[in-house]
Amino acid sequence: MSVRIVISALALALLPLASSSLAQAQDSAEKAKAVTEENGKHLDADGNPTYKIENGTVDWYTFSGYRRYHSDCHVCHGPDGVGSSYAPALAETMKNMDYGTFLSIVAEGRKNVGGGKENVMPAFGDNKNVYCYMDDLYVYLRARAIGAAPRGRPPKKAEKPQAAKDHEASCMGG
Ligand code: HEC
Repeated sequence: MSVRIVISALALALLPLASSSLAQAQDSAEKAKAVTEENGKHLDADGNPTYKIENGTVDWYTFSGYRRYHSDCHVCHGPDGVGSSYAPALAETMKNMDYGTFLSIVAEGRKNVGGGKENVMPAFGDNKNVYCYMDDLYVYLRARAIGAAPRGRPPKKAEKPQAAKDHEASCMGG
């Protein structure tokens, strides 16, 4: 068999793999699409919080999530969710993580013991700086994972909605 035949046979064998991950990416992007808005917070077709980015301007929650992530999560998960040797790249794993799973992992933490290595995801359920901003974190990481948000601080953001101010005041104060 010539080298060329072997290579094209390999390429054919790999083709379905490449197109199925492409289909999966399109699927996540479709699911994350903002279809409704409630007081400045965008929701997908299932009613879960999501991002909206128009002409480089991010919605308030994406921006706020960026800030919260870089104060409480990046030490382990790396800048912009790219991961580290200690904790997984959330810009990858959030492609397929639903809202409920995200909330429970962040609130309760997680500990996988394996391969002689024990890495711990702390529980943030009693940390107001995190739980008052769960949606912000989810929306930001979703935007990063699905590729809509570039790395770094978003250069343009929507104004802070009154609903976000009210929620913050009652959550942080109460
Ligand atoms: C002290 C380090 C540390 C900090 C701080 C931290 N994490 Fe984690 N996180 C981890 C580790 C380690 C894991 C993997 C745990 C496991 O596999 O059991 C993890 C797992 C996760 C997962 C599950 C990912 C997956 O692939 O299944 C999510 C979601 C997550 N963290 C979100 C957050 C968010 C949001 C913050 C900030 C509020 C945060 N983490 C802060 C260490 C950390």
